[in-house]
Amino acid sequence: MTLERLLHTQGFGTRKECRTLVRQGRVTIGGRACGDPYAEFEPAGLQFTVDGEHWVYRDKVYLALNKPSGYECSRNPLHHPSVFSLLPPQLVRRGVQPVGRLDEDTTGLLLFTDDGQFIHALTSPRRGIAKVYEVTARHPVSDALITALIAGVRLRDDPGPVAAAACSKTGEHTLRLTLSGGRYHQVKRMIAAAGNRVEALHRVAVGSYALPDWLPAKGWVWLEASEVMRSRGA
Ligand code: URA
Repeated sequence: MTLERLLHTQGFGTRKECRTLVRQGRVTIGGRACGDPYAEFEPAGLQFTVDGEHWVYRDKVYLALNKPSGYECSRNPLHHPSVFSLLPPQLVRRGVQPVGRLDEDTTGLLLFTDDGQFIHALTSPRRGIAKVYEVTARHPVSDALITALIAGVRLRDDPGPVAAAACSKTGEHTLRLTLSGGRYHQVKRMIAAAGNRVEALHRVAVGSYALPDWLPAKGWVWLEASEVMRSRGA
């Protein structure tokens, strides 16, 4: 693949912009500046720098963001900054999308990718991929609340009861809730339907991938798709 095209696929701009980057000597391969935009390289695993920043060629990208509160999961946010503003512009330009959405005030694990099949697999109701949330509730967490969430609660737009895949009390006002569905505001509506109220919501896992506890809010890491899809609904 030519260097110009390679940079274009990785989100470094239009073909013309990528040509200019190369001609300006801002791109290195294997530690050496390469000034020829039409030089051919085998892309798999290729390491390069642009303006001194290190990159590895990736056919598809997968990453995990520790979403802070106060960011909207939209490219055109209405009231708050966009989660896309927390990612390098190259990744946004190559078309990464969040896998599902978190509310503006929800924190924690948000996956991004430009792999449409991966998004479909993770969000398809048929696959029932598990999502784990830590909930802080306004009122004390009672045994009756846990029992109701496991048995299933009625949500207005659902014909049958909606049940947690797992639920346990973790403190006086906290619980851990695992859902296999992804309905709109599902955690907040389920907790409200069971007679309590969500004060804070933090997602800690999706599928087999758990948010690393060392990753600060606003931080992100590269992933492999297999880290999330290790086993069905894990
Ligand atoms: N359920 C909610 O209510 N909000 C979220 O952000 C995610 C799940």
